[in-house]
Amino acid sequence: MTEIGAVAVRFPKVVLEGDGFLLRPLEARDVDDITLACQDETTLEWLPLPQPYEREHAEGFVEVVAKEAQESGRGVVFAIAVEGRLHGCIDLKATDWLTGTTEIGYWVAPWGRGRGLAGRATRVLVEWALRDQRLQRVVVQAATGNVASQRGAESAGFIREGVARNAGIVHGGRVDLVVYSLVASDLP
Ligand SMILES: CC(C)(COP(=O)(O)OP(=O)(O)OC[C@H]1O[C@@H](n2cnc3c(N)ncnc32)[C@H](O)[C@@H]1OP(=O)(O)O)[C@@H](O)C(=O)NCCC(=O)NCCS
Repeated sequence: MTEIGAVAVRFPKVVLEGDGFLLRPLEARDVDDITLACQDETTLEWLPLPQPYEREHAEGFVEVVAKEAQESGRGVVFAIAVEGRLHGCIDLKATDWLTGTTEIGYWVAPWGRGRGLAGRATRVLVEWALRDQRLQRVVVQAATGNVASQRGAESAGFIREGVARNAGIVHGGRVDLVVYSLVASDLP
């Protein structure tokens, strides 16, 4: 866990409310939906997940990866839940409590796409990160070819800063990443 002075820092486990959805911690009952969503062609096009993606990978994500992220202070993972069912995942990652910076990542399951859920969830999460967790800068990075993800960041109010060259990897190879940010002073 990160320590600033004598204070150990990690994100609290909370439920955040959006318009028609909740951001809540992952649960064991999400495993089947995560497996399905991460076997989707578009998800695998843009995220360097195991391929083929098996149920055991989803179990590891819920039981190990998400827990470890929260306990170490590096991040926190939420299900984007609509009427109780997981429709996507969004997380804070690579958090640096000393500089007050973090990054948002997301995917939306095929059955949740087409209603701007990534952008709306991103807005809820970035406000929580900047206001409640008192971080200073939140980044979203999307491959230059991933227009839907870029639209998500833009609809959440993020500012495009530029392109980080050769910064990411997907199954198709290395990619340039468009870097977006929202900083504390951007909030109304
Ligand atoms: C990126 C992703 C999360 C967006 O899901 P979503 O919130 O349901 O997005 P929507 O389908 O509502 O589309 C959002 C916007 O992108 C546009 N869009 C969607 N697919 C598009 C495509 N293939 N090409 C161009 N524009 C596209 C939509 O028209 C919409 O535009 P608008 O904001 O002007 O209305 C989802 O596509 C996904 O999970 N992709 C795979 C994983 C991924 O890329 N994660 C992000 C890694 S950085």
